[in-house]
Amino acid sequence: MQKQPLIDAHGVSLTFQMGERTVAVLRDVSLQVKQGTTVAIAGPSGSGKTSLLLLLSGLEQPESGVIRIDGRSLAELDRDQLADLRRDRIGIVFQSFHLLPSLTAVENVALPLQMAQAIDARGAALDMLARVGLADRAHHRPSQLSGGEQQRVAIARALVHRPQLLLADEPTGNLDDQTAQSVRELLFRLNREFGTTLVLVTHDMQFAEQCDRVLRLHDGQLQEVQHVVSA
Ligand SMILES: Nc1ncnc2c1ncn2[C@@H]1O[C@H](COP(=O)(O)OP(=O)(O)OP(=O)(O)O)[C@@H](O)[C@H]1O
Ligand SMILES: [Mg+2]
Repeated sequence: MQKQPLIDAHGVSLTFQMGERTVAVLRDVSLQVKQGTTVAIAGPSGSGKTSLLLLLSGLEQPESGVIRIDGRSLAELDRDQLADLRRDRIGIVFQSFHLLPSLTAVENVALPLQMAQAIDARGAALDMLARVGLADRAHHRPSQLSGGEQQRVAIARALVHRPQLLLADEPTGNLDDQTAQSVRELLFRLNREFGTTLVLVTHDMQFAEQCDRVLRLHDGQLQEVQHVVSA
């Protein structure tokens, strides 16, 4: 029997009302993502990429359509159940990082584990910070970190609880080539070692082409992009 997809979204529509105007961001979008695969989502600014990730994480609700994560329809979960789902299975890297300004890097990264009452949250957080190359910035607060460093803290925080699914909004968007490369390698290594399913919004075509699939959002529609895997 074939395993059910980890993400199964059907007929998803999202519109925003701006005064008199209705803006249709997603129109009847469907997406299936198999467990353990890597998917890149590209598309112009304003095409709805961030909105789609927010829907998949249950942080926004669609106007119509059904989104299932590992067989569970998000619409049928209450706030607490959605929070539990995110805490236990989903890591999210937000485009604007969403780090807590009063906490240090290691405290920000440890937070998801502390919420799950894991033992040695701090040790695991330090380990993950080292993996993103920030061992020597662990005690800095976000305001004392560069944009790229904050982004790597956000990535460490999203990965520290070893989520089944990572939703990452331009995770290499602010990084120089070398740091971007090490973040790409880290994400693909997690995919290989732990089977973490990756859904990445990215403009970085080098990144996109290393993924199993590339999708493009345009005019509210999601389309598969054929890409040639170079030999
Ligand atoms: N809360 C909101 N209220 C009204 N309009 C919104 C809201 N959130 C997003 N939008 C609109 O929805 C559209 C899609 O936004 P979204 O942030 O998903 O785009 P994006 O593809 O992630 O763009 P970018 O590449 O610039 O990050 C935009 O036109 C935006 O103005
Ligand atoms: Mg965005």
